Amino acid sequence: MSVIHRAAITGVEHYFPEKILSNADMEKLVDTSDEWIRTRTGIEKRRRVSPGQASSDLACKAITKLLKKKKMAAKDIELIIVATVTPDMMFPSTACRIQEKMAATHAWGFDLSAACSGFVFALATADQFISSGRYKNALVVGVDVMSSIIDDHDRNTCVLFGDGCGVALLQPEPEASSLGILDHLCHIDGKGGEFLYMPGGGSLYGTSSDTLSKNMHVVHQEGKQVFKHAVTEMARVSEEILEKNNLSSEDIDYFIPHQANLRIIESCQKKLKLKDDQVIVNIKDFANTTSATIPTCMSQAVDDKKIKKGDLVLIASFGAGFTWGASLIRWAF
Ligand code: ACO
Repeated sequence: MSVIHRAAITGVEHYFPEKILSNADMEKLVDTSDEWIRTRTGIEKRRRVSPGQASSDLACKAITKLLKKKKMAAKDIELIIVATVTPDMMFPSTACRIQEKMAATHAWGFDLSAACSGFVFALATADQFISSGRYKNALVVGVDVMSSIIDDHDRNTCVLFGDGCGVALLQPEPEASSLGILDHLCHIDGKGGEFLYMPGGGSLYGTSSDTLSKNMHVVHQEGKQVFKHAVTEMARVSEEILEKNNLSSEDIDYFIPHQANLRIIESCQKKLKLKDDQVIVNIKDFANTTSATIPTCMSQAVDDKKIKKGDLVLIASFGAGFTWGASLIRWAF
């Protein structure tokens, strides 16, 4: 009989590809300036994969580091959930590709598409499998190679995104532990679909010379609309989850928001009345890595000895769909 346990994040790791593109490099691609990018977004540089490097490759690098740190073998992994909008291919899933490359022979898994909320939604999903008592070792991967779906001639989008991967290990906490994942809230609203999307390559507009000539295989965004909704909903869902759990922002040790724009983050911080040292930010060096922003921030904050055992961590996201959500985590290691 399965026993219900709280799921906990018991390890995190990240990997960014080596190639760095600075704002000065972007100035050579499009009509932009370092000053515009920094003041409008907070971004100074971003990472890019090298040719032939796909989402599964970034994920395998991060997972290999994580397994080594945890002294675990790949065959110990039972479940791999991959949040991504840039799978290696339409199918097989990136989860299958990772399982094969890692020789995680006892794992099953699948990809989950929720754009910038991918990691939050995948964490909420994996939590169900662990807390139900069904599984003891699940990997939640947030990975995106945004450079594969960005038009490097469109200044509205190309400066905003980067490539990267973060991964979290989920395991059950001992019974009666106060540590682990406390709660999730996940939302979608399809009305937002028209403001941020990649139309080509799916079943609606299958790849053709027409879709290629109309540039339908890259990200299209109405930045202002996305900005407006992100600012409102990321703060609102954070307040909602705190209130539901009888907590206030003063109880939060660290807030990890999705990293789309520093101004969105600062606006949320202000609404939630958080101090600078409560907010984890990596957008300056890595830009918006979509599903990877939150787990990479988590991993870097652990490496920097900021987040530690017992800390209360609030994560919140907003992305294409629209999708948005939050999780409350009592850090377990
Ligand atoms: N360099 C110079 N000028 C630029 C650039 C650039 N890279 N990009 C746009 N501009 C110009 C525009 O063309 C516009 O010019 P115009 O006034 O002559 O038409 C001007 O700058 C102002 O553009 P705005 O769109 O008003 O700029 P804004 O201050 O809104 O910033 C931005 C744009 C940074 C995109 C912002 O709206 C934003 O961050 N939006 C949210 C992005 C986001 O959160 N995405 C969600 C996650 S992504 C996902 O889910 C996959």
